Amino acid sequence: MTESWVNSAERVGADLHLELDGPGGRRAALIRALRDAVRSGRLAPGTRLPPYRSLAADLGLARNTVSDAYAELVAEGWLTARQGSGTRVAARAEPLRPPARIPKTPGAPPHARAPRHDLRQGTPDASSFPRSAWATSYRRALQKAPNQVFGPGDPAGRTELREALTEYLARARGVRTEPGRIVVCSGFAHALRLLFGGRVLRGPLAVEAYGLGFHRGLLAEAGVRTVPLPLDEHGARVERLGRERAVLLTPAHQFPTGGPLHPMRRAAVIDWARARDGVIIEDDYDGEFRYDRKPVGALQGLDPERVIHIGSVSKSLSPALRLGWMVLPQRYVAGVLDAKGEREAWASALDQLSLADFIVSGAYDRHVRRMRQRYRVRRDRLVAALADQAPHIEVAGIAAGLHAVLRLPPGTEPSAVEAATGQGVALDGLAAFRHPETDMAVRDGLVVGYATPAEHAYAAALEALCATLPPRRP
Ligand SMILES: Cc1ncc(COP(=O)(O)O)c(C=O)c1O
Repeated sequence: MTESWVNSAERVGADLHLELDGPGGRRAALIRALRDAVRSGRLAPGTRLPPYRSLAADLGLARNTVSDAYAELVAEGWLTARQGSGTRVAARAEPLRPPARIPKTPGAPPHARAPRHDLRQGTPDASSFPRSAWATSYRRALQKAPNQVFGPGDPAGRTELREALTEYLARARGVRTEPGRIVVCSGFAHALRLLFGGRVLRGPLAVEAYGLGFHRGLLAEAGVRTVPLPLDEHGARVERLGRERAVLLTPAHQFPTGGPLHPMRRAAVIDWARARDGVIIEDDYDGEFRYDRKPVGALQGLDPERVIHIGSVSKSLSPALRLGWMVLPQRYVAGVLDAKGEREAWASALDQLSLADFIVSGAYDRHVRRMRQRYRVRRDRLVAALADQAPHIEVAGIAAGLHAVLRLPPGTEPSAVEAATGQGVALDGLAAFRHPETDMAVRDGLVVGYATPAEHAYAAALEALCATLPPRRP
């Protein structure tokens, strides 16, 4: 049953084509068609609908059918009916916005069928989530929580967590701050949304030439142009910073290529920020995981007024918790709080209190120490397998984090990714992280996440990986 109705411009402001089909009879079909027209914006708020009689005649329907459909949509809030002004599209019937086109993050898509060997970067070892220690902290937090915790939350975050983070970040990452300059958020992605979507900062934003496309997509959605900074063996070439007033860096462990920012570049970027009244956004996504030496302290420690330091538990505990923090220069605190709104709408107060307890009780340090040991062994096994089975393939970058980059001969990356995928080994090539506008020479490499496979499956995953690598060139 498909019928159409095209009505005149002065009646509804625009030509309208209604498709009356689908299950449930003509009344249901008309309700659906009108609701879709409002939802999609084809019928704009305030638009006057034709009288029952005319619409019924146009569509060949009984008048009752049309009046019932209007009444139903009035009851649902899509239409309003007022004596004397007829039936109109409700003012608050917001059309559905087209979904934002944010590129998918390389890494594990949530619902894809599991590959035989999952070596995609992105997630920590899920089997090591400290379930019982977290439950202990959660229970303790719940028992101690004042009643006010169960009301609307403070957008800055719970004081207990901000105090715990102040002490922890100073000790573990060399961050210099105080609780009043920390704003709790749901992770790095949320922090970017608050900073740029909330207009605390404006573009253009300089970013590293290799990074997460997902983050670039979030920025593009907020109307921010990203300008790629080339990378070399010392990290981002900060001397190439142009007219931008903000730069996003991963100083402890460049994501994904794997080197730290050279001490001279660290000093140079701070000098740049001071000279240009600029700001550095420090993405400290895996700063605790360094295996060959003590982690290099956060860049923020060099100048707390020039660096926005952002961290989260996504690598150290789990991205499922959606808990992170922004350590802000004083001048941005009010703007970020404004962007968050009147009350906490992202981070559960109980999870915040649990994390505070987890940190203060020492459970966080114990967990990070245990995971550091586990990931170090995983990385060593990867390096050993390569030395044994593919000695011509080098591991780039420092011994850190949850992933490694295998350097490949020029031009071999696409076939190497294809060969691995064909053998059931899921991983990404460096090309998946490359800024589309960079003029930097292409680097061929495979990004291998070593945290995800279960312990019993890791040896087989390494074997399968080595078997698919390009052979030594003659
Ligand atoms: C480069 C990079 N930055 C930040 C994050 C953390 O993101 P979020 O805190 O939004 O989970 C990740 C992933 O864990 C990452 O790979």
